[in-house]
Amino acid sequence: MASKEKTELRLDKYLADMGVETRSKVGKLIRKGAVTVNGEMVRNAAAKVNTKTDVVKVAGQTVTHTTYFYYMLNKPQGVITSTEKGPTPTVMDVLVEAGIDCPAFAELAPVGRLDKDTEGLLLITNDGGLNHRLLSPNSHVDKLYYAEVDGEVTEGDIKAFEKGMNLGDFTSKPAKLVVKESALGRAKTLVTISEGKFHQIKRMFEKCGKEVTFLKRLKMGTLELDPTLEPGEFRELTKEEIENVVL
Ligand code: URA
Repeated sequence: MASKEKTELRLDKYLADMGVETRSKVGKLIRKGAVTVNGEMVRNAAAKVNTKTDVVKVAGQTVTHTTYFYYMLNKPQGVITSTEKGPTPTVMDVLVEAGIDCPAFAELAPVGRLDKDTEGLLLITNDGGLNHRLLSPNSHVDKLYYAEVDGEVTEGDIKAFEKGMNLGDFTSKPAKLVVKESALGRAKTLVTISEGKFHQIKRMFEKCGKEVTFLKRLKMGTLELDPTLEPGEFRELTKEEIENVVL
């Protein structure tokens, strides 16, 4: 899957995309005369710049253009969420096997982690700023999981999830537990958490005396796992998905 790179961009978009300021504030900077292109002051926010060849500076500081790529992977079980090569296959190996063709492949990194035996939505990008914004403790991005557990889920469990749980090294924020089916000692549930602590969902169920037997992430903020993606398949995010997820 080849990504099309746009080399001609409006000056204000170029600077906003690179996180200098919001588009409207960037416009003000440009009109104030703080921006040069190839050494010439440019006061027109709509002026076109070439992302490959033009040298853009704001207050004398060069702003290099990086093209961001965003992919969603339906992570299969059995691979680790890591960019480091090692004995265990990683999500990056999965992308290669699935035929990724990204000019910035070496800079790609997963946003957050899923356990080796967890499936589902994994966002992979070279936009480090997004990575930080989605994962920072203050961002509270909801993540929705489908979880199957051994044991029948009770009202008490639902309340315990809602209240937040002391898990030893931290107390979880309120989480939503919805039971889809619970019979014969097994339950199918949907869980929404706003954090992403190590083994969080497994530990929350464990605290209720239940073991998670299958876990799959379905949603992260506004981004939903494309149901047509089989485990091990990926696709680029659409323009709309990027606009919503980038905030
Ligand atoms: N909670 C877990 O226990 N594991 C995951 O992979 C994600 C959330």
